Amino acid sequence: MKKLMAANWKMFKTWDEARSTAEELVDLIGAKLPEDREILIFPPFTSLKGVGDVFSKAEGFFVGGQDFYIEEEGAFTGEISPKMLKDVGSVYGLTGHSERRHVLGEDDTYIGNKTSYGLSAGLKVVLCIGEKLEERKGGKIEEVLERQLRVGLKDVSLDVDPKNLSIAYEPVWAIGTGEVAGPEEIIKAHAFTRKILLSIFGEKANEMRILYGGSVKPGNCGEIIALDNVDGVLVGGASLHSESFSQIILA
Ligand code: 13P
Repeated sequence: MKKLMAANWKMFKTWDEARSTAEELVDLIGAKLPEDREILIFPPFTSLKGVGDVFSKAEGFFVGGQDFYIEEEGAFTGEISPKMLKDVGSVYGLTGHSERRHVLGEDDTYIGNKTSYGLSAGLKVVLCIGEKLEERKGGKIEEVLERQLRVGLKDVSLDVDPKNLSIAYEPVWAIGTGEVAGPEEIIKAHAFTRKILLSIFGEKANEMRILYGGSVKPGNCGEIIALDNVDGVLVGGASLHSESFSQIILA
């Protein structure tokens, strides 16, 4: 299974900034991308095509949409469909990110609808899960992760190609704070996630990637990526600069 080194650029970068970061990244990584790694960037919608065009000439580099709606087209002002994402080169779509859950108010059921719709519309989907600080303090990590997984995956076909579905464990308290979950915490949460995936999908769940996200930096990525059941990372702040993201990719 290839490790997925993913970047979420959130609401950062204009068209020119996004393209130049993508070009720098391709130059910095060049032929050095290890066989067992893939690079994925979730740019803002406005620069998806720009970054996708840069990556179209580079093996192992992909783009995805940070969000999408659960219809092919229609009167849904402000929304974007998987069909439109694919039209500008997206291979992936992101669901369940903590900012969409806790800032934009998306609930587990809607996130579940989006995850199954995205997969059936031909996107590879990365479903994010993760507990808030108060849930962690209250000893509720597994309860929260299990609910987010079971509801988030409720309508996903059991025939799903395991390569098309990844989970990103992003503890909310570690996002953008500089605080990283410790190795033991990551191992425990990822093993638990794998257990739930196995209970839903059977053996094929061993081929689904589980990424870690939350203050991943060049200095800690090497240790994190080597942990059991860590099949990639999802990086926010440190992915905005080609230099630091290239160090993470090669860590
Ligand atoms: P940071 O890497 O900035 O903590 O963000 C993580 C994240 O939210 C990626 O989706």
